[in-house]
Amino acid sequence: MDAPVTTIAELGKYEGQDVMIRGWLYNLRESGKLLFPIFRDGSGLVQGVLFQKNVAPEVFDAVKHLTQESSVKVTGKVRADKRAPGGYELDVAAVEIVQRVPDNDPYPITPKEHGVDFLMEHRHLWVRSQRQASILRVRSEIEKAMHDFFDERGFIRTDPPILTPAACEGTSTLFPVEYFEEQAYLTQSGQLYIEATAMALGKVYSFGPTFRAEKSKTRRHLTEFWMVEPEVAFAELDDIMKLAEDFITFIVMRVLARRRSDLETIGRDISKLEKIDTPFPRISYDEAVKMLQEGHAKGELENRFEWGGDLGSPDETYISSKFDRPVMIHRYPTEVKAFYMEPDPENPKVALCVDVLAPEGYGEVIGGSQRMGSYEKLLARIHEHDLPEEAFKWYLDLRKFGGVPHAGFGMGIERAVAWICGLEHVRETIAFPRTLNRMYP
Ligand code: 4AD
Ligand code: MG
Repeated sequence: MDAPVTTIAELGKYEGQDVMIRGWLYNLRESGKLLFPIFRDGSGLVQGVLFQKNVAPEVFDAVKHLTQESSVKVTGKVRADKRAPGGYELDVAAVEIVQRVPDNDPYPITPKEHGVDFLMEHRHLWVRSQRQASILRVRSEIEKAMHDFFDERGFIRTDPPILTPAACEGTSTLFPVEYFEEQAYLTQSGQLYIEATAMALGKVYSFGPTFRAEKSKTRRHLTEFWMVEPEVAFAELDDIMKLAEDFITFIVMRVLARRRSDLETIGRDISKLEKIDTPFPRISYDEAVKMLQEGHAKGELENRFEWGGDLGSPDETYISSKFDRPVMIHRYPTEVKAFYMEPDPENPKVALCVDVLAPEGYGEVIGGSQRMGSYEKLLARIHEHDLPEEAFKWYLDLRKFGGVPHAGFGMGIERAVAWICGLEHVRETIAFPRTLNRMYP
């Protein structure tokens, strides 16, 4: 009987038995009459062991000359070994080579150090490395957790369009596309559309790609990123602040529960994530300004921050450094925020909005707000922002036909992954990042 096919992650179920795994040669060590090939199959790594006098000469020879990343089907006996990374080793009996990487054109990413540009140029191969694969597993877990969170709370997922006639988050970062005879844009956010579906279904969320032609070349910006956005009818600012802190805490707990070994592979300081718990500190923009000005007076911040500006990344880093969990800053000046935000009735100079800053200097992960309720004020805003009224007619209808207070937020998945994995740059959080200066591969 043929040995059963399994994955490296499942080897523990087959201790003492013969199995077949299918994957790639990750690395090969040689020590006299012993060979130690390391195989990977997407689920993990396992070290194989071949002792020259115990295997057929052609098998020993094939493995001895196997090239890195050649694809293989390996048969062998599973043996428990406490020192082995996954707890098991494979006594290799046979190897079938599916495709051999040629000797004269070897796999370009070797165990030596490569520069980031080289790795980005070979991103299609770089994703095979253990660290990158672990990051992608954590990302997948976060996406799963996010669906579970909203599903468990009675939210319905609705998918907004990607081709849109107008801006949501400001006209300066739109990607134009030709739409037959018309001008269209790639969406910056699904928000305006899920405000409509929230009026149909009560509690909704969307998850999809969003696009911003950001000229900023920072470690937090991509031109294409994935945003999850909840929108809730009859919710006000406080309600979505509560939702945001529960959401983030849920995701972190889930990753800690299910992806701890990946976090270890990535080298994350897990103790920092274990501190994440509700409630998150809430500070108003006014209080944030005071903190920043005091920081400047103490010489901890280079520039003096003046009321009225948007927080820059050093400002966000400074504020988040004072807390060991995410911090929520609410009520920014209306001027620096999007057109659709409801002004605070107690002080119309500020908007009923919130930014959630991740700890450890990861910056804004969530932006949200209560939405403008009044038809007349919204129309005036659309004019003030020089937006085409025609394109917003349908959006204005939502304030005419049973308008209700409503609110929501958006979280960029890449920012969340960067923080949870402790990465220096968002380019490692997505399989194929799109940035100001990279569209390949
Ligand atoms: O704060 P933003 O611009 O908010 C909105 O788009 C709202 N319409 C969301 C809503 O209320 N439904 O973007 C939301 C989040 C940010 O907090 C950040 O995490 C992420 O999207 N984000 C980016 N991520 C990567 N690269 C970029 N260029 C990003 N711009 C925003
Ligand atoms: Mg924002």
